[in-house]
Amino acid sequence: MPTNKIANQILIIFGASGDLTYRKLIPAIFDLYKQNSLPEKFSVLGVSRTPFTDDSFREKMKEGILKFSGLKPENEDELNKFCNILHYLPINTAESKDYSQLTLRLDEIDKNENTQGNYIFYLSTPPSLYGVIPKYLAAEGLNIENNCFRRIIIEKPFGTNLKSAIELNSILKEDYKEEQIYRIDHYLGKETVQNLLVTRFANGIYEPLWNRNYIHHVEITAAESIGIENRGGYYDHSGALRDMVQNHLMQLLALVAMEPPMSIDATSIRNEKLKVFQALRPMKDDDLFKNVVRGQYLPSNTNGNYYKGYREEKDVAKDSRTETYVALKLFIDNWRWADVPFYIRTGKRLPTRVSEIVIHFRPAPQNLFPGQEIHKNNDNQLILRIQPDEGVSFQTKMKIPGSGYRVKNVNMDFHYSQLHNVYLPDAYERLLLDCMMGDPTLYIDSGALEATWKFVQPLLDFWKNNTEAPLYGYPAGSWGPENADRLIEGENKSFRYPCKNLSNDENYCEL
Ligand code: BG6
Repeated sequence: MPTNKIANQILIIFGASGDLTYRKLIPAIFDLYKQNSLPEKFSVLGVSRTPFTDDSFREKMKEGILKFSGLKPENEDELNKFCNILHYLPINTAESKDYSQLTLRLDEIDKNENTQGNYIFYLSTPPSLYGVIPKYLAAEGLNIENNCFRRIIIEKPFGTNLKSAIELNSILKEDYKEEQIYRIDHYLGKETVQNLLVTRFANGIYEPLWNRNYIHHVEITAAESIGIENRGGYYDHSGALRDMVQNHLMQLLALVAMEPPMSIDATSIRNEKLKVFQALRPMKDDDLFKNVVRGQYLPSNTNGNYYKGYREEKDVAKDSRTETYVALKLFIDNWRWADVPFYIRTGKRLPTRVSEIVIHFRPAPQNLFPGQEIHKNNDNQLILRIQPDEGVSFQTKMKIPGSGYRVKNVNMDFHYSQLHNVYLPDAYERLLLDCMMGDPTLYIDSGALEATWKFVQPLLDFWKNNTEAPLYGYPAGSWGPENADRLIEGENKSFRYPCKNLSNDENYCEL
């Protein structure tokens, strides 16, 4: 992207002393810098309570860049030069009176750097401040676009249920236009997630097959091997449904299920995605029992390592019933997908980190080769691998050479790693750059946000009101509750148990 196309601007990061800034945001900005993608004049102002100076903030960020950037600095000079664009202001962002200091500091940087009043405010703070900081900014007039732009990026969780999401939307809309609000879902910044649009809509061959006539069911998995790390305080009030399903997995679902948009612009894509959310069959009482399995990881010894159980994690209640695993079966009630089950699954402390979408095609109408390959999931599958070993694999059948007709599944694969000299940018790089350019396509609009909360709300209510609703333990390092497989009906069907490597089959698995 030529730099002269992007207006000069300042990125103000609230919560700048936190982990996200250190691990993701500043390394992503450094990677953009390395690729010459930043605006000609660009500054970052880190804001939080920790008493850093510009210099000590830069030192800390240098560490983060060395550890987490994709394109490492070539030498100390390059790193120092980059770090000159970083500034820091220690204020208490929960105190309205501190915001005049922010205005002064922004004026000063604006004058020195000719950034023309163009500001992006990135809220990487505890969610309790999402309704507060934007108000205090507005009180200083920092929301007003007068020959400049003012944008606000909000990290997840955007609300903790439908009601709080609606409330937060309306608080923001008192002072900001919808076009100024960028709700982030980092899954949409992943290269492989954007590739779903290209796979579906740049190839002619998939569209005729992409419907209930040819697709038997769809699986969407986001498995993680990590536990909750040090996030017990947040996670124990969140759980897998809020943490992963309402946002990341719903976005993947929409990209798989949406109709072709009129064009690739934000409005067309958002409209089509919204229609998918609106067509989700609401979960009724019966579905909440039948079509949902939740689990929580138990202590285990796996591969010689001891893994704590969820209830032993720091800041987690000893009798917690928060789910660290959830699997759901759901339906999209429209012409394309009527009665095609979608199985969504996510969990912590599973055997490996894999996110993927599997399209299971219907079997051939008649089996001319009986007795062959009678094992689970013996169907043609298109596997769209989000991470790791990013790529696409199509499972088809071939004749084993020799007498008779012995049939075997084989993979036709594409791996991003086969592309030479291609750098897969981190999701935050793409998303930050899009916001700098004013392109909201990969951000969540208020319609989608409310529609996805609306879909998960009955389940949240059900668990809240029925604390004894089943919660299955699973040993840390296993594939979650065995019961989840019962969601996938029909002979010889189960969830796919993916390996780290896309092409390995389930018997020879590197985890
Ligand atoms: C975050 C969740 O949104 O996504 C985390 O809060 C989760 O709990 C993470 O670990 C997963 O992201 P990724 O990119 O590692 O799949």
